[in-house]
Amino acid sequence: MNVSDALRGRFIVLGVTGSIAAYKSIELARRLTQAGATVQVVMSRSATEFVRPITFQALTYRPVEVEMFQIQDERAAGHVAMGREAEVIVVAPATAHVISRLANGMADDLIATTVLATSAPVVIAPAMETHMWQNPATQENIARLRARGVRVVDPESGPLASGDVGPGRLASLEKIEAAVVDALSSSAALAGRRVIVTAGPTVEAIDPVRFVSNRSSGKMGYAIAQAARDAGAEVTLVTGPTALRAPNGVRVIPVESAEDMQDAVLAVLPEMDAVVMAAAIADYRPLEVSHRKIKKRDAGSELTIRMTENPDVLKAIIAARRPKTIVVGFKAESGEATAEAERMLREKKVDLVIANDISDPSSVFGSDTDRVTFVSADGVEALPVLAKTEVARRLVAKLAERLAR
Ligand code: CTP
Repeated sequence: MNVSDALRGRFIVLGVTGSIAAYKSIELARRLTQAGATVQVVMSRSATEFVRPITFQALTYRPVEVEMFQIQDERAAGHVAMGREAEVIVVAPATAHVISRLANGMADDLIATTVLATSAPVVIAPAMETHMWQNPATQENIARLRARGVRVVDPESGPLASGDVGPGRLASLEKIEAAVVDALSSSAALAGRRVIVTAGPTVEAIDPVRFVSNRSSGKMGYAIAQAARDAGAEVTLVTGPTALRAPNGVRVIPVESAEDMQDAVLAVLPEMDAVVMAAAIADYRPLEVSHRKIKKRDAGSELTIRMTENPDVLKAIIAARRPKTIVVGFKAESGEATAEAERMLREKKVDLVIANDISDPSSVFGSDTDRVTFVSADGVEALPVLAKTEVARRLVAKLAERLAR
């Protein structure tokens, strides 16, 4: 898709903060507008010390917003409305100061508030003096933003306004524009596709009140369901009991046992383009389920529960799928996860395995982050520690790419 096709008719919020590089965002605003986008410029107070709002206004044909409470249409809670309306927010140049405020979720000016109020993708293009860029504080803030899914267009090396030479120069406008296009197009990457995601633990009954289960929180699966929905897919979420609220716009099928989960998945499998098996399905269930509550009186001082093997849902899916349906499995191990994932890829004939080592503190059950490795016929790709929402976004990008092949 060329740049104009990708940008025509899109609503872009361009945040400009107080760096000398602000003069370059004048050209960025012009380019985006010329390509057919509606560009709403929001300037920080200090940005107006470098360039004047009127310049942006003349090039974008729209009034520029500067400070909260001066916003043109506060009746509609302007800052929230803008965040909601935006299809992408790009902050260019982004100073060390705004990066720190965004990393901390502050809401002290219009740019920060708009970013906080949006569910649209966010692109930032940092520009600052080399030492400020390299300072661990800035690097930590950047890492936190990346982990939340913010796209960072890294600054380039070159002579800086301070007289130094080093990294810190605003990336080229081509690169920033490409990141904006990428952020916009990924939101339709799975348009027209049907995806089923399993999530959470299964619950295997012992008697009417007791069960055997596991510590799966469901966070990964729910994040994948949401990311797939955001990418335009029609999503079915088959979920064991969790404490999470299902994302809007997703069809939810609640289940309890591994057998329920298998029935639910196989029933809709023929329609599916992709199956993502994020659920922690119990490998065993009690051999006999007592229909009455087991009494201490009857069981005595020791109780033995015999377990029997559950169906391997993944195996059943592989056997029943259409050849075009992509199947993703998960492999959680205490150590050695990648080797196990490679074995699973070979033996179970899944298309992609997401491996994680649950002995790694960033990947323990229930956490919001994960350090995973994607293992497929394309090779082994170890990702850094990321928010589960970001892992989900990257998985969705992988699915989209494979489905497009
Ligand atoms: N899975 C499944 N059916 C089961 C158990 C697991 O479909 N009865 C799926 C999970 O959703 C996950 C993957 O299989 O995607 C996990 O693979 P598996 O080899 O079963 O992992 P473990 O059960 O962790 O492996 P192990 O054999 O070492 O117990």
